[in-house]
Amino acid sequence: ENPGFKANPMLSKIQQDQIVSQGAEGRIYLSDLWGHLCIVKERFKKTYRVPELDEKLTKQRMTQEVKSMQRLSKCGVQTPTVYLVDEYDRKIYMEYLGPTAVTLKDFLCGLNSLDHPSVEIIITMIAKSLAKMHNNDIVHGDLTTSNMMLLPTLPMDFKLANPHRISVDEILQAFTQNKSNSALDSKCLGELFLIDFGLSKVSSKVEDKGV
Ligand SMILES: Nc1ncnc2c1ncn2[C@@H]1O[C@H](COP(=O)(O)OP(=O)(O)O)[C@@H](O)[C@H]1O
Ligand SMILES: [Mg+2]
Repeated sequence: ENPGFKANPMLSKIQQDQIVSQGAEGRIYLSDLWGHLCIVKERFKKTYRVPELDEKLTKQRMTQEVKSMQRLSKCGVQTPTVYLVDEYDRKIYMEYLGPTAVTLKDFLCGLNSLDHPSVEIIITMIAKSLAKMHNNDIVHGDLTTSNMMLLPTLPMDFKLANPHRISVDEILQAFTQNKSNSALDSKCLGELFLIDFGLSKVSSKVEDKGV
């Protein structure tokens, strides 16, 4: 049916699990890769597209996504580690950022006011990541707060009310606690990860970087 690719027999061991996010283009779910919890990003087949074109586009986006993620880690911008690419089933297996990671969109929407001191820290983190990324000629192509994740720094003894999902209040509580405890300063809030590189490209043009 799909003569271009051969299915990797090792992949049959992996079982599908909990859906993290579902969009028009594909879905993200938790799975098991050789005994390790991971994220699977799967792209759907588009029946309204000519199959050859759909396959070409999907392959191009998957390749671009993986390439950019690997390039980014080299220039010091955090992004989930890519574990495995399954072109046949249109899946990328990558590092799961964990139940305490939140999208910046969710974090910012959960704040009562954008006057909060965490906002300035976040803006600085975004600016530093973008500078590194653009200095290495990587253009994200879909820069939104849904494609940025905050992995908060939690004190050792921090207990989550719901271990499967951290709340914005808990992140702020941890932030206050970190600040009063030590001089961690830049790491008081947490670390920023960039995700979703399907529309990214390599470009040195200033106009591309500005979008
Ligand atoms: N590695 C990851 N760890 C934890 N959550 C993730 C990870 N990758 C994606 N997500 C979650 O899934 C959502 C969608 O992922 P994304 O790569 O942006 O796909 P889409 O192309 O559907 O926007 C993200 O906004 C985030 O909430
Ligand atoms: Mg996205």
